[in-house]
Amino acid sequence: MQDFEAYLTTHLPEAPSFHPTFDRALKAMLLAGGKRFRPQLLLAVVDAYTPLLRESAYPVAMALEMLHTYSLIHDDLPVMDDADLRRGEPTLHKRYDEVTAVLVGDALNTHAFYLIADAPLHNDVKVALVKELAYSGGIGGMVLGQAIDCHFEGEKLTPEQVDFLHEYKTGRLIAASLKMGAIVAGLEEKAQQTLFDFGLDLGLLFQIQDDIIDATQSSEDAGKTTGNDDAKNSYINHFGLQGSRERADALVAKIEKQMVQFDAPLRAKLEPILDNYLNRHKIQ
Ligand code: IPE
Ligand code: IPE
Ligand code: MG
Ligand code: MG
Ligand code: MG
Repeated sequence: MQDFEAYLTTHLPEAPSFHPTFDRALKAMLLAGGKRFRPQLLLAVVDAYTPLLRESAYPVAMALEMLHTYSLIHDDLPVMDDADLRRGEPTLHKRYDEVTAVLVGDALNTHAFYLIADAPLHNDVKVALVKELAYSGGIGGMVLGQAIDCHFEGEKLTPEQVDFLHEYKTGRLIAASLKMGAIVAGLEEKAQQTLFDFGLDLGLLFQIQDDIIDATQSSEDAGKTTGNDDAKNSYINHFGLQGSRERADALVAKIEKQMVQFDAPLRAKLEPILDNYLNRHKIQ
């Protein structure tokens, strides 16, 4: 992923003007790091089937990371989760101000679609990518999930509603990352759907592990404000630490079973990325 990281740092969004801080603020959270999980998933699928398209897919991987980064910047705002630390640094509204954090989020969101439109890929591929990211990152996924997450703070949802919330908030963008890799690689619709469905399970596992981090890690270790889910419909609050780990274990088993069905090149590309997540439950 070093090459993608190099691409990211040399293709940061630019908004030069006489505004004293906006251009710096726009880049700050992208530069602060993060696991780059969603770009890695997209590039793994591209590498497995059409390695020659890897570089052409960088803007698309970057678009995913930008949309995700916007979601984190807004998630940390006082009106949402009110967090002070993100990616090991003060959150954007702490370092600058709330107006800047709202507008940087808006800019990363819109610029994600600019990057896809500008990518060296066929127009029909780009339209399909825009459609997927707009829906799964928006009302068909992340935005709706965040709306439910915030609206129902302090109010207990049913277990089915908890799964819905987390599938939308986190699962669907992760699923879309895999599907977008499949779109770039020109896979047929059935294969795209298989990857999307696999991504929903992976995304749910990812969010359960994120909820476990909130309950078990210090802010310093996590690089972000933890102990912040008290009023949330988190997995921990519904099923406890042990129950959450059991749910994670069940998802790991399901994901591993699906991995066996994948063809060898895809498995080979996904395994190193997922290893950490699939084994994490065993070392906790
Ligand atoms: C955190 O996302 C928010 C969730 C959707 C769980 P990540 O855990 O991918 O955060 P970064 O990108 O590594 O900072
Ligand atoms: C946020 O979930 C998921 C997003 C869509 C941003 P969390 O609120 O649990 O994410 P963290 O723990 O702050 O990273
Ligand atoms: Mg949140
Ligand atoms: Mg949060
Ligand atoms: Mg969390």
